[in-house]
Amino acid sequence: MRLSPGETTPSTPRQVSPGGMTSPAPQRGSVTHVLGTRPNFVKAAPVIRALSKLGVEQRVVHTGQHYDERMSDIFFVQLGLPKPDVNLGVGSGSHATQTAEVMVGLEREFTESSPAMVVLYGDVNSTVAAALAAVKLHVPLAHVEAGLRSFDNTMPEEINRRVTDQLCDLLFATSPEALGHLAREGRPAESMHLVGNPMIDTLIANLDKFDAEAARAAYGLDGPYVVATLHRPANVDSPKAAAELVHALHQVAAELDVIIPLHPRGRATLTRAGLLDSPKVNVVDPLGYIEFMSLVRGAAAIVTDSGGVQEETTLLRVPCLTLRPNTERPITITSGSNQLVTRDKLASAVLAAVAGGPYAGELPPLWDGHAGERIARITTAWLAALSDNATNQASPATPRSRRADV
Ligand code: UD1
Ligand code: UDP
Repeated sequence: MRLSPGETTPSTPRQVSPGGMTSPAPQRGSVTHVLGTRPNFVKAAPVIRALSKLGVEQRVVHTGQHYDERMSDIFFVQLGLPKPDVNLGVGSGSHATQTAEVMVGLEREFTESSPAMVVLYGDVNSTVAAALAAVKLHVPLAHVEAGLRSFDNTMPEEINRRVTDQLCDLLFATSPEALGHLAREGRPAESMHLVGNPMIDTLIANLDKFDAEAARAAYGLDGPYVVATLHRPANVDSPKAAAELVHALHQVAAELDVIIPLHPRGRATLTRAGLLDSPKVNVVDPLGYIEFMSLVRGAAAIVTDSGGVQEETTLLRVPCLTLRPNTERPITITSGSNQLVTRDKLASAVLAAVAGGPYAGELPPLWDGHAGERIARITTAWLAALSDNATNQASPATPRSRRADV
């Protein structure tokens, strides 16, 4: 039986999470957020906050895809995220292993907790695994950052996005072209909502904490500097790609200081390829959100293959050079500071971007810091319509067959 939000189950057994922490068994009807990786945490914070303000019962499930303190815990602390109710502890593995382990853990979790809705973020393995587990249990699904497409199926994220968007009832888009992609893939117009960008909500909410001068002092950076973040398989997995990347970064470092908060994925290959051999390349551990954005704010340019960083630099108007042949975020090029570059052209592109100075044009529509509130309002209205429908219909039906139009 599906209970309405706020109603409690008759008994409240306690659960033990992998970390050994106990938490009360959830109330039925919670909105459950599935988070697994660093970008998920940044995107979820404003949505969870906005739903809390509306008094919505929520549950946070961490899949454990990212688990290092600097890839996970630090974001919960800095962004004021609630401690996860459960951590599935899946860790690293091949795509199939990781996806399957998340599915197994979430099937158990959703069966026990009967969420009113599951909210998913972005395009990581935890996202698609959660969509597959929830949809087969007839749990309504919302996808935050729906409809982004690189049209590059060699990227695991593109597969994850396409599958997830097919399965979700509510599709929250960060940019207008995403709506067109979803429509072309047959998704109904009433499921799509252009809401702005929760990653930008987090950025705007924390702007006054980003201290570029403190970051500069912490790393002894006197002049203009470049921040680089790189973790895509195409850039860091093979020794050949890593060697080309290191060569390109050394060329940049011949002109400007380069600081690299290094994602664990590329640590071994890039180090073997000689990344540390240049005195002007400063490699540090992954940074907490506030420290990272402080560095980005003061940078002359950013070199990246990150999705989130393309968006954050758009808002901060810092020149962004993206080392990829395509992007699922073209709006950061048309309404932002982003440009795609190849490794062999990186150094000249960085120098030209630094000379060109900050981007001064229009920003993408609705990147105003209020996406989380829009998502919360639409989600609660959708759930209320679903509940009204259930009350008005004598015969029980699955939520999926009663998709509400909001
Ligand atoms: C994942 C996402 C990617 C996202 C990125 C954000 C998928 C397929 N990829 O990539 O879309 O842009 O997160 O950062 O979901 N590792 C650690 N500690 C950790 C986490 C990972 O050492 O806390 C190392 C492990 O060696 C692991 C490797 O990083 O095998 C890759 O981790 P994984 O989560 O599989 O993919 P990411 O490259 O992090
Ligand atoms: N980030 C951070 N510290 C770092 C690197 C990144 O806090 O050292 C933040 C930043 O806000 C970025 C987000 O983590 O947008 C996600 O980064 P990542 O590149 O890992 O993921 P992607 O957006 O490519 O999926």
